[in-house]
This record gives sequence, structure tokens and C-alpha cells, in this order.
Amino acid sequence: MGIPTIQVGCTHFAAGRLQALVNAKGLEPVACVDLQVEEARQAVKNLKGNVPEGLENRIYTTLEEAQKKHHAEACLIYASTTVHARLVVESLNLGLHTLCVKPIATSPAEFRSIQRAHRAHPDRMLVQGQNKRWNPAAVKMREWLREPQGIGEMLGGECRFWIRQNLHTGPTSRQPDATVEGLFFHAGVSHQLDQLVAANGLPRYATARVHRRKDPELGQTGVWGTAGGQALLEYSNGSSFCYTGTRAAHGSPFGWSGHWTFNGEHGDLRRDGGHLQLFRKGQCVEDLQLQDLHPGLIEDDRIQFDAWAEAIRTGRDRAWMQETTLNTWVLMEACNESARRLDRVDVEAFRSALVSV
Ligand SMILES: NC(=O)c1ccc[n+]([C@@H]2O[C@H](COP(=O)([O-])OP(=O)(O)OC[C@H]3O[C@@H](n4cnc5c(N)ncnc54)[C@H](O)[C@@H]3O)[C@@H](O)[C@H]2O)c1
Repeated sequence: MGIPTIQVGCTHFAAGRLQALVNAKGLEPVACVDLQVEEARQAVKNLKGNVPEGLENRIYTTLEEAQKKHHAEACLIYASTTVHARLVVESLNLGLHTLCVKPIATSPAEFRSIQRAHRAHPDRMLVQGQNKRWNPAAVKMREWLREPQGIGEMLGGECRFWIRQNLHTGPTSRQPDATVEGLFFHAGVSHQLDQLVAANGLPRYATARVHRRKDPELGQTGVWGTAGGQALLEYSNGSSFCYTGTRAAHGSPFGWSGHWTFNGEHGDLRRDGGHLQLFRKGQCVEDLQLQDLHPGLIEDDRIQFDAWAEAIRTGRDRAWMQETTLNTWVLMEACNESARRLDRVDVEAFRSALVSV
């Protein structure tokens, strides 16, 4: 049996995560939590495959109640963005390993509250859910950035991302991504740059700026840091990396994974979605077409959940998964800080100030 797990948030995007949870071998759903019990029950009824019997009758409105009635060791949080930090703190304080989809927090104060709760329960594994680093194309890119058969030490690189994302969900409703300041970096850029942090760790400095785009059709009404932006990341070895992106574009030529170029000591890497090329001494020495994001991202999250379960059970990649996903949050907030101050941010000093409180 997999690790007994409670999922918080069960409708909309979260409904697909419930399916990923059922599909995962390493986790076993024991209860669900959602404020909308009937909608959540319907989501459970729609699940396919090896659904635990009676799961539709184990839906609660609070995590505390679910944990009291059913033994659980882990918690997946897929509720609305603005309640993430509070739920993560509650989950850790209930003694649960916790994976919360990005963004785990929407402000430094929220992130610090999570750090305090985690410090009180350091043996619980805490992960910011990032489902774009697990598909075969992302794994191959990471391999070419880190392993001896790849590009060697990075000299420089770039990532481009642009989509047209409608965040206007009804006459009076807009997703928090368009109403909470700074969520372009935390909820848009993090999908791409989490893959960079997973491979290369944190840069030494970050310099960033944000777009001032307004487009009511897309739900972009000018809330600071929600539409698009630029970043220059500088590493301790003197190399640097450029990012440019927007989710309020006039078209959608690229997907969510990002389009990438890297130059290294021993090779160059190019990636467009699932198409990856490795160049050495004037030749393209590998040219691969691999699976990029799966439709609905259910398989991406299934892989993530199984990796998390394995890390909890055996310790495999535990430190890497925990540190790099949380560091992605730190880097995104460092970019926001830089864009607010119009200044370069020392990322390590910024991280220390966030985690030491
Ligand atoms: N990683 C990705 O690829 C990806 C893609 C889309 C969305 N997301 C993220 O997933 C999360 C969920 O997105 P969504 O569009 O389904 O959000 P949503 O606002 O529709 O919320 C999902 C569910 O959470 C429930 N909920 C809200 N507050 C709650 C609380 N305090 N306790 C229990 N349940 C609560 C709601 O009733 C709803 O059923 C968001 O944070 C979003 O940013 C991630």
C-alpha cells in the first residue's frame, strides 16, 4: 500500500491531481478536503481506475477533521492559491509530509510562516509542487546540464516563454494569478525556471523587471507583476542566464515548458518543447524528440507524486527535491524584489533572510 494521503482541493485543476493521486503507486488517497463538498464528491465519482472504495464518502471541509478520522502521513494541497500558506502550516503542524502546488506562498511573510512550521517538524518532507520538471524532455535537458556527457560547465543560457492566458473566468471573477501582486514570476516563470534551479541550483544575483501590460479581455487590469517580465541571473562562476516571458501575449507560439538555449564548455544545447539537440565541435551529435508535457498534466503529476513517495520512503533525491523546489520560490521572490527596487538582488543573502526567521 502507498503512503496514506489526504488531498486538499478537489475541483477544477485539482480534480486532475486527484486522478494523478489514484494513478500513483506510491501514495494511497484516504480522504479529501474541499469547501465545496458536493462538487468534490462529483470529482471523486468521475475518477477512473483503482479508486479506493468509499472515497466519495470521506470528504471533509477541514484538514484537521480528515486527519482525525483517517490515518494519514502525507498531504497534497491543490486548493486556491491564496490559502496555500495557511494550509501548508496546518498540514505540517498535523505531522504530515506536505506537497503544495506552486506558489506555496504569495509573500515573504507567508513563506516565513511556512519556514517556522517546517523548522518545528524538520523530519516532514516539504515540497513546492512543480510538475514541469518530470517529463522525459525536461529530464534529458537536466541530464545534459549536469552530467559529464552534456554541455559541461554552463557559460550562458536563455529561456523564452510566451502564451496568451485568459485569467478572466467570469463577469466578476478573476483568478488570483491576475489579482495578487507578483504572481507572474511565482505562477508563470516558476514553471520554466524551476527546471533551471533543479539542474543548476540558485544563481548568485538576480536582476528583473516586470511588464505593465493591461488587457481586460485576459483579466490583466494592471495589477503589479502579473503579466510578464525579464530576468538576468548571474552565477558564482561568472556565467549568466537571460529570461524573457509573458502570459499576456498576443498569441501562443510556445508551450509552458519554455524554449531554451545553453552554451557550455563542451557543448551547446537547444530545446524547443520536446525537441532537444546537443552540439559539439560543429556537429549536432544528438537530436531527440521526447515527450514534453502530457495532456492535462495528469501523468506529469503522477510521476511527481511517485518521486515524492519514493523520497519520503527511501530518502532518494529527498534533499534535492525539497531544497530546489523551495529555492525556486526564493528565486521568484528575489526577481520580484529586484523589479520592485529596480536593483540587483544578492540571492543567497535574500534566501538566508527568508529562512532564518
Ligand atoms: N502546476 C500547474 O500546472 C497548475 C495549473 C493550474 C493550476 N495550478 C494551481 O493549482 C491550484 C488550484 O487551481 P484551481 O484553479 O483548481 O483553484 P480553485 O480556486 O478553483 O480551487 C480549487 C478548489 O480548492 C477549494 N478550496 C479553496 N479554499 C479551500 C480551503 N481553505 N480548504 C479546502 N478547500 C479549499 C475550492 O473549493 C476548489 O474546489 C492553484 O494554486 C493554481 O495556481 C497549477
